[in-house]
Amino acid sequence: MSKFHDYIKDVFNWNEEMKRFLESEDVEKDAELWVKLDKFSGVIEKLDGQLDIEELNALQSRVDELHNDVEQYFSRRQPVGHIYINEPFIPAGGHSLPPLPYGYDSLEPYIAEEIMRLHHTKHHQSYVDGLNRAEEMLKKARQDGDFKLVKHWSRELAFHGSGHYLHTIFWNNMSPSGGGKPSGALLGEIEKYFGSFEQFKKHFSEAAKQVEGVGWAILVWSPRSRHLEILQSERHMLLTQWDTIPILALDVWEHAYYLQYKNNRADYVNNWWNIVNWKDAEERFQKASQLKWKPF
Ligand SMILES: [Fe+2]
Repeated sequence: MSKFHDYIKDVFNWNEEMKRFLESEDVEKDAELWVKLDKFSGVIEKLDGQLDIEELNALQSRVDELHNDVEQYFSRRQPVGHIYINEPFIPAGGHSLPPLPYGYDSLEPYIAEEIMRLHHTKHHQSYVDGLNRAEEMLKKARQDGDFKLVKHWSRELAFHGSGHYLHTIFWNNMSPSGGGKPSGALLGEIEKYFGSFEQFKKHFSEAAKQVEGVGWAILVWSPRSRHLEILQSERHMLLTQWDTIPILALDVWEHAYYLQYKNNRADYVNNWWNIVNWKDAEERFQKASQLKWKPF
């Protein structure tokens, strides 16, 4: 009988431990697993040691079932746990310049080494510094409860934030072994929406060439419309279509081409297609297209 009591005590302790664990994970108390564990606590508490063999077997199979449920919870939790527990996040003011995924001279002859070096180490770095400063100043504003400069710092946040994020995409959107055309699902979506890859390329090139002043041409996926789109962004953040995810970004600020192409942005845009990293765009599209909102 004491063995029986030990077993019940073990089961009870395990059950309570699992409930404490779920509580620490912020699992809602009406979640299926929580309800099951809670019901089982009640069952054990009512036991008086007078179980026949059939009742004991039923209890054991219920314990096995709970073990399975908990195991399933842990295997489902793995990716979520990875995101919430192990995935690094950037605290306010903690941004840094991402390394270029190839050498400064790797995109020659299409983009000269000097441009790449300046563009990455000076221009991109200044967006990183500006974003960090804006985030820190907004953090200070929150701490002090003083928001009289919030318009200024919000503008800086959008300007330098867009600059940092778009350049981070832009570097990976290019590769020394780029060019050609995409394949797979991205090509399918391009053909479906733009008619053909050639029509898409023409539209994207024209959008880039005709950006008023400085800015970007950006291929985006709209999770709500569920189709691709080509946008022009004047500077970094004007005309931005929110609720979209950049897939492919082309920098048409003068600093991206002027030293080499002077005012001939068109040649730069035309040549840029030789270094597009479609593998990177495909990966971005694969991930971005998993995000879907209710269409309207
Ligand atoms: Fe740039």
